[in-house]
Order: sequence, then structure tokens, then C-alpha cells
Amino acid sequence: MTAEPDFVVVATLDRLADKAFLRVMIDDHGLIVARDGDTVHAFQGTCPHEKADLAQGRIEGCRVICPRHLASYSLIDGKVSRGWKVDALKIYPVRIEGTDIAVDAAAVRRDPPGGARKRWDLTGG
Ligand code: FES
Repeated sequence: MTAEPDFVVVATLDRLADKAFLRVMIDDHGLIVARDGDTVHAFQGTCPHEKADLAQGRIEGCRVICPRHLASYSLIDGKVSRGWKVDALKIYPVRIEGTDIAVDAAAVRRDPPGGARKRWDLTGG
């Protein structure tokens, strides 16, 4: 049985410029939301290869590129670029609700991102 979606607001859209990344938390899980034109994506915050911080990467052609070894992952299905033998990036349903960005917390709980329980330091200090 599949749990009902549980969309929770994680940020306002005006905080996310085109091609920018924003670290967000759902429960104790660190995720990234990223904007690519009119589309917003939500995905696990660390690279499935060696856990690099994907918020330091970049978006190109609907793919996120890891800053460490440059593997890229589809933001549609999470598949890694050719030649890599690592797990797919976990992608989560996201939607725009007026001026807010909302992510399906039920999907996150059901399939937590790699490196689950990592806490982001959102204080900037
Ligand atoms: S850590 Fe991301 S490609 Fe190696």
C-alpha cells in the first residue's frame, strides 16, 4: 500500500533563483531543492558515489553535476551518467503552491536520502 502524499512547504519560491540550490530539511533528512527555469526539483543532498555535497554542484540540461568527480544525475529519474556504477539519485515529488515550494514528506520518509539523519547547518555560522 502506498502512503498518501504529504506535501510540506520547505521554502518560498523567491528564495530560489534560477540554477540555484537550497538545502532544506524534512524531519531529519537533508534534501536539496533546485530551480531550473520554471521547474523546481527536490533530491537527496549528497552524491550517491562518495557523499559529496550536491549543493556545491550545478544544474545543466535537467541534470545535477556532482562537484567532486563530476558524475551527473538525471533530475527526472535520478539515473547516473554513463560509466558510473552507483545508485540512482533519490528524487522526490515537489510542487509549487502559490509562492511556496512543497515537497512530499511521505515520499522522503518512505525512501530516505542516502546519508539519512545528516543535519545541515542552516544557521550559516
Ligand atoms: S562524490 Fe559525486 S561523483 Fe564522486
